[in-house]
Amino acid sequence: MNKDIEQIASSASMDFIAKAKSLKTLGIDIIGLAGGEPDFDTPNAIKEKAIEELLKGNTHYAIGKGLPRLREKIACKLKKDNGINISPENIIVTPGAKMAIYLAVRACINPGDEVLIPAPSWVSYTELVRAASGIPIEIPLSPDNNYAIKKSELEQYISENTRMIILCSPNNPTGRMINEQEIKEIIELVRNRDIVILSDEVYEKIAYIDRVISPGSYAELADKTITVNGFSKAYAMTG
Ligand SMILES: Cc1ncc(COP(=O)(O)O)c(C=O)c1O
Repeated sequence: MNKDIEQIASSASMDFIAKAKSLKTLGIDIIGLAGGEPDFDTPNAIKEKAIEELLKGNTHYAIGKGLPRLREKIACKLKKDNGINISPENIIVTPGAKMAIYLAVRACINPGDEVLIPAPSWVSYTELVRAASGIPIEIPLSPDNNYAIKKSELEQYISENTRMIILCSPNNPTGRMINEQEIKEIIELVRNRDIVILSDEVYEKIAYIDRVISPGSYAELADKTITVNGFSKAYAMTG
């Protein structure tokens, strides 16, 4: 057994989802709040298009990075909604954001490299880093400070092995969104350091105030940021 995989804990949210489902099958009236599952159904236009494409026989290998037309559309979306200038060449379509995060970590770090994870955070980041042979370093953010990200606090956790920082906005679980001041602090933090930012923006459409700020839209961060987004939460396509 691979020793990195052996030490990975099972996903706490997946465990609770399984438990709630099994209680439901026993007829127990239970509301599952464990998974980030939207409370609406996948829009009909998406279902109908998927059925149409399946019936057309569009079920074979695509180009590895994803369908060129889809990557072009994603590039347009990132430009229009997020202010991120990226060519379709630099976009990869994966089966879910979780896989994208794993692949990004895997591609950026070597065994023993450290990945900073401001916490509280989504339960899977630490295990995805471990699966990629990295060392997750959780940074406890203070509720007294509304979980604000501060350069001075993050710096205490930086070592010569730090290669990545994972940001999540809107945040799971707090719902908090990164603001301009924090972006300034992050720009200062990664300036002259070999640190990649992984910006998880899967909850972009579940934001109740303002526009989500994408770190990748800042000139100082554009070449250092991998933006992860997906259809699961925005279009109820979690399965
Ligand atoms: C913050 C965050 N990122 C990524 C994911 C995974 O998204 P996907 O279902 O597209 O793999 C989740 C799922 O709960 C999440 O909460």
